[in-house]
Amino acid sequence: MNDFSGITIALSKGRIFEETLPLLAVAGITPAENPEQSRKLIIGTNRADVRVVIVRASDVPTYVQYGAADLGIAGKDVLLEHDGVGIYQPLDLKIARCRMCVAVAEGFDYQAHVQRGARLRVATKYIKTAREHFAAKGVHVDLIKLYGSMELAPLAGLADAIVDVVSSGNTLKANKLVAVEDICLISSRLIVNQAALKLKREMLQPVIEAFVRAVA
Ligand code: ATP
Ligand code: PRP
Repeated sequence: MNDFSGITIALSKGRIFEETLPLLAVAGITPAENPEQSRKLIIGTNRADVRVVIVRASDVPTYVQYGAADLGIAGKDVLLEHDGVGIYQPLDLKIARCRMCVAVAEGFDYQAHVQRGARLRVATKYIKTAREHFAAKGVHVDLIKLYGSMELAPLAGLADAIVDVVSSGNTLKANKLVAVEDICLISSRLIVNQAALKLKREMLQPVIEAFVRAVA
């Protein structure tokens, strides 16, 4: 548990921070700075008892799991890769919406490969999600872990397919890729440290309730 006696909220900068601002506003919380303009990783708010820590999107569950943050906002894609121990997931915030897909280069006959029972090389940041998806389909895959720019992998000959999130489809289109399978819908979730929910319930409950109102 962190030493700060108030509420620590873990957020990633970029779309999650931007899309969380209106939700925080409903809870009466305004961050003092925008992380895009500041190099600070701990940002105060208009409330002395609330602070925001800025972490990588995929690190948000880790901060919440270990109690270094009481609350966090993380994409379902990130949560699916995490073991979820010590984390309570009470609310779908319906922000940062996209879908998890399998995509291949235009002209690559994915269905024919699958039907032939050929081994597929799949590059992704989402190893667990990809493993479970292809195992459920009975497709044999070699998974290659990447940390970003998955769209390059089929173009550069690193992989036959990728598993990545798609929203407008512009990134796939710009790189001459096509989505061939939807795995699941993705949105961001409020996550709460389970111990903090017991120990700091009086402080946390109004903030969680404000998020519920904001989503409704
Ligand atoms: P990391 O920095 O840890 O690699 P990231 O680059 O995926 O993470 P962001 O791009 O800020 O982090 O995305 C945060 C979350 O927003 C993702 O976990 C996902 O749930 C969602 N997301 C990602 N891409 C899109 C998109 N194009 N449109 C809408 N939501 C998206
Ligand atoms: C995500 C994802 C895709 C893109 C899809 O990247 O990895 O590349 O969004 O969105 P689209 O379907 O609307 O084009 P992101 O925007 O997070 O890129 P970044 O992390 O490299 O900034």
